[in-house]
Amino acid sequence: MPENPVYILGIESSCDETAAAVARDNTVLSNIIANQAVHKAYGGIVPELASRAHQKHIVPVVDQALRRAGIRKDMIDAVAFTNGPGLIGALMVGSAFARTFALSMGKPVIGVNHLHAHVLAHFARLGGEDGNSPNFPFLCLTVSGGHTQIVKVNSHHDLDIIGQTQDDAAGEAFDKVAKILGLPYPGGPLVDKLAAGGNHEAFEFPQPRMPGLDFSFSGLKTAVLYFVERQQSKETFVRERITDLCASIQHTIVTILMNKMEKAAAQTGISEIALAGGVSANRGLRKALDIMGKKNGWNTYVPPLELCTDNAAMIAVTGYYRYLDGEFSETDEAPFARFERF
Ligand code: KG4
Ligand code: ZN
Repeated sequence: MPENPVYILGIESSCDETAAAVARDNTVLSNIIANQAVHKAYGGIVPELASRAHQKHIVPVVDQALRRAGIRKDMIDAVAFTNGPGLIGALMVGSAFARTFALSMGKPVIGVNHLHAHVLAHFARLGGEDGNSPNFPFLCLTVSGGHTQIVKVNSHHDLDIIGQTQDDAAGEAFDKVAKILGLPYPGGPLVDKLAAGGNHEAFEFPQPRMPGLDFSFSGLKTAVLYFVERQQSKETFVRERITDLCASIQHTIVTILMNKMEKAAAQTGISEIALAGGVSANRGLRKALDIMGKKNGWNTYVPPLELCTDNAAMIAVTGYYRYLDGEFSETDEAPFARFERF
């Protein structure tokens, strides 16, 4: 452990949030996020528009993160940034900014894997709270817009994937069915909200039969599409039954996820169980984990809402753990679009 506190500037730009944060060790001093409204009209993210919006936001967002933290630029010990996976043009903005900033200050850079950071969000201390982090080894269900993984976390740096989706991610499933129901992008949070007023037993959707600990979500959107198309008037049916539809769809996704977690816990004998990623903000999923945890005697962990969806605090905190191990990146490392390994 270094004698003095370590200050890390974290930068996240993998998708449509431009985010910057400052951490003192694993304590989050600031966590600034600029969302991009430009995509609203398109029903999804337009990569080129995302890159341009990052370019516009990055300097003010970093400036605000430093000011909110009360930290001078020269106090930063290292700059951590997301180097993938994500949209290449978007990642390049954060990566170029981070490396230029670090180079001009004579500080090292730490390229962070976005999915590693979602997991390590569990070690971020927010608002001076002591926090309740999982003990190693733990299982983390990472559910985001682009990925769905069951990760066996052996230490801050040693992570093994033991299950993953073979097609759509859980967040993508939420977003795609929401689109079928005529809801704007991103649909996940809206489905969550509407589901709260509906009956989850109103409709039954098929569950995939996937071997082992892997997932499949692409069949669900097709099932929902055919189901609503079969109704006499799709528009009237969806309008009248939207809360029941959302509750039933959410219940299906949550059941698929939780059944696999139960299997993973039984197979590994691990009873420290965590959620991470954007979909871990879902109230149905959080409640199901709580119920299942009580049933199976698990210790369960969910990140604070602020750290579920994309943020730079998780990047800064992951940077801190990499800093402790002296794991710095070369300044000529290029960002990568697809997840390959931790
Ligand atoms: O982790 P994240 O912010 O970005 C990626 O790394 O992809 O996850 C975004 C995903 C989107 O698909 C969004 O619809 C979903 O998380 N999401 C939710 C909720 N909040 C965000 N899905 C269901 N319920 C929510 N409350
Ligand atoms: Zn993410």
